[in-house]
Amino acid sequence: MLVGEAPGRDEDQQGRPFVGRAGKLLESCLSSIGLSRESVYITNVIKCRPPGNRRPKSKEITACRPYLLEEIKLARPLAILLMGSSAAYALLGKRSVVSLRKKEFAVQGVPAMVTFHPAAILRNPALRSSFMEDLLAISKLMSTKDTRN
Ligand code: URA
Repeated sequence: MLVGEAPGRDEDQQGRPFVGRAGKLLESCLSSIGLSRESVYITNVIKCRPPGNRRPKSKEITACRPYLLEEIKLARPLAILLMGSSAAYALLGKRSVVSLRKKEFAVQGVPAMVTFHPAAILRNPALRSSFMEDLLAISKLMSTKDTRN
C-alpha cells in the first residue's frame, strides 16, 4: 500500500490517486523493480484537493485519518509505504521524512516505512535514488513479513 498526500487537479478530475505527473513517476519507479500499478493499492491521506492546492493542515489530516485507517483494515496490505510528511504525520504523528526514513514502524500491525513524496522527486530528481532504495526496502519487507495469516 502506498500513501500520498492529497489529490491534485488531475486526480480530482479523474477521481483516482496519482494519475498526473507524480503518478507517472511513481509508476515508472514501481515498474523498474517489477511492480505494476495494479499490484499495489495507492491512496491519499486527504480525499479531496485542498483549496489552491495548498498543503493539508494538521486538523484536515486528523479529520481524514479514520478513512485511511479503515482503508488499511479493508485492503489488508502486506506493508505500507508512507510517501511524504503528510502521510507520515497521519499514521505516525511525525513529519520529518529525512529522520523517519530507513526505520521500520508498525501501523495497525502492518509493517510501514517512510519515504519522500514523488512530487519532491519531480522538484529534486537527485532524490530518486533514495526513493528507489526505500521502494526496494519496503518490497523486501513485504515479501518477508506476511502478517495476514
Ligand atoms: N500527490 C498526491 O499526494 N496524491 C496524488 O494523488 C497526486 C499527487
